[in-house]
Amino acid sequence: MNMPVRHPREVERLVTGHATSDGAGVRLTRILTQSLQRRLDPFLMLDAFGTDNPEDYIGGFPDHPHRGFETITYMIAGRMRHRDSGGHEGLLQNGGMQWMTAGRGVVHSELPEQDEGRMEGFQLWLNLPARDKLCAPWYRDFQAADIPAFTAADGVLVRVLAGESHGVAGAVQREPTRPLYLDLEMPAGSAFAQPLPPTHNAFVYVYRGTVRIAETEVPVQRMAILGNGADRDGVVLHAQQPARALLVAGMPLGEPIAQYGPFVMTTEEEIMQAMRDYQAGRFTSRHSPE
Ligand code: CO
Repeated sequence: MNMPVRHPREVERLVTGHATSDGAGVRLTRILTQSLQRRLDPFLMLDAFGTDNPEDYIGGFPDHPHRGFETITYMIAGRMRHRDSGGHEGLLQNGGMQWMTAGRGVVHSELPEQDEGRMEGFQLWLNLPARDKLCAPWYRDFQAADIPAFTAADGVLVRVLAGESHGVAGAVQREPTRPLYLDLEMPAGSAFAQPLPPTHNAFVYVYRGTVRIAETEVPVQRMAILGNGADRDGVVLHAQQPARALLVAGMPLGEPIAQYGPFVMTTEEEIMQAMRDYQAGRFTSRHSPE
């Protein structure tokens, strides 16, 4: 059921990430920055980390809070141990995904479980609608084998982290933003077509090789923001040489976005409240180790 895309979207602009560091000195590239939150609503952030140098990741992300949105961590290579204030613990590794709904608040840590070798992955932040921002926290680890995958035409391997592609339901579904999150592994000379609702904001991030979208070459480590348009029914990616890319899309919430670091709410007053609640220890208390 390869649904055709008759009027594919074009690339509106290419974005180069900014090198930065977060946590305890983890070097990463912030691709989706705060200035793009409106344009790419409901997505708030995309970070890429990829290095063979343990000094770039060894500090990891010690205890820190979140409120008001969801974090989706997708690991291409490496191992990261996750613990949170809800008592959850998991090991995120090669090809696995962790989906965490911070809701009214979690405190968590993400620490590497390796001191050598390659660490590579992505963290995407997905906003919650105002009415769900204080929902109960939720968390799940998906090992690589638990992430639905299929081989599309031309031998394109599609991992469906969220949403639905060519009749294959992803690991996670979310109303009301209906996010689509695909990891595409494209052999040389392949093309992949994905229908998208015209209302969804969408982008592609290339992390191996180069892909072409309409007339635009999208080089490695670039994000292509896809243009919207009522007459556009999807996107088509072409790879002349082997390439890997993330395709992310979601329905915008159209609500105000107030962010202070790890808190994303709709008003400044809610941000102040989040800071008071966190400082007063009102985020779920951390489970002590058994
Ligand atoms: Co975090």
